[in-house]
Amino acid sequence: MRIRLTASADHAADLVAHEILTQLRAKPNLVLGLATGSTPIGVYKRLVDAYQTGVASFAKIHTFNLDEYLDLPATHPQSYRFFMQRYLFDAIDIPAAHIHFPPSEGKRLLRRCQRYEMDIQELGGIDIQLLGIGSNGHIGFNEPTSSLRSRTRIKTLTPKTLQDNARFYASHETQPTLAATMGIGTIIDARTILLQAFGQKKAEAIRATVEGPISSYCPGSALQFHEDVTFFLDSEAASLLSMRDYYQQTQRHEEQLRREDRM
Ligand code: PGA
Repeated sequence: MRIRLTASADHAADLVAHEILTQLRAKPNLVLGLATGSTPIGVYKRLVDAYQTGVASFAKIHTFNLDEYLDLPATHPQSYRFFMQRYLFDAIDIPAAHIHFPPSEGKRLLRRCQRYEMDIQELGGIDIQLLGIGSNGHIGFNEPTSSLRSRTRIKTLTPKTLQDNARFYASHETQPTLAATMGIGTIIDARTILLQAFGQKKAEAIRATVEGPISSYCPGSALQFHEDVTFFLDSEAASLLSMRDYYQQTQRHEEQLRREDRM
C-alpha cells in the first residue's frame, strides 16, 4: 500500500488526475472504475480540463461506476448517473455506449448484476478504480459486514450512510435505502486502485482501513490485499495514522528511486 500525505484535496486531485492521464496516454482504451460523492469532483474537473484543452481524448475508454441507488432514474438529480453526466460525461467525448452502471431499475436485478461483472471481464477488467471511502469504512456501497469477496449485488444502506448523505435530499424527498454496488471482490480485482479521503470525518475510517486488522466490519480494510493501491489523504484524513513519518519517508525513497530510474 502506498500512502500519500498530500497538502490539500486539490493537490491530491492533481496527483490522481495525472496518474489517470498518464495511463490513458499509454492505453487509449482504458477501462475506468468511477466513484461519485464529493471526493472525486476535483479529479473529474481536471479530466474535463484535459479534454477541453486538447490534452486528452476519452473516445475509446469504457467506464464502470461503483454503485447506484435503486429506482432513481438517470434524470433524478440525486442519481449517480445524473451526477456523472454533470461532472464528467457531458463534458468529455466518451460515447454513451461506453458508460456502464450497475442495474438499479426493473426486474431480475441479480442476474443483471452478474451480467455487469461479465461486461467488466469482457472488456479486459478495470485498469484504474477510483475510490472514496465512507465514514463507516464502506467502499462503493459495501457496508460494514459485507463479504470481503462479494460481487456486484443489491445492498441495504446503513443508518450511518443514510445520515451522511441526507444533506443531498430536500425534506420532502424520500432517500433511497437500497443500492446496487460492485462488490469488494469486484473492486479489488482492479489493476490499480486510487483512493482519496479528505477531512476529519474520514480519519477513523482511514485509520481502520490502513492500520487496522482486515475485517468485513471495515470494508476498506480489504484493500490491504491489493498489490497496487494508493491512498491520497489530506492532513485531517491522515491525522489518526500512527506511522505518518514512515509514510513520508517511503514516499521520498520512491521518488528518489524513480528519479534515478531504478524503479
Ligand atoms: P463522499 O462519499 O465522497 O461524499 O465523502 C464517499 C463515500 O461515501 O464513499
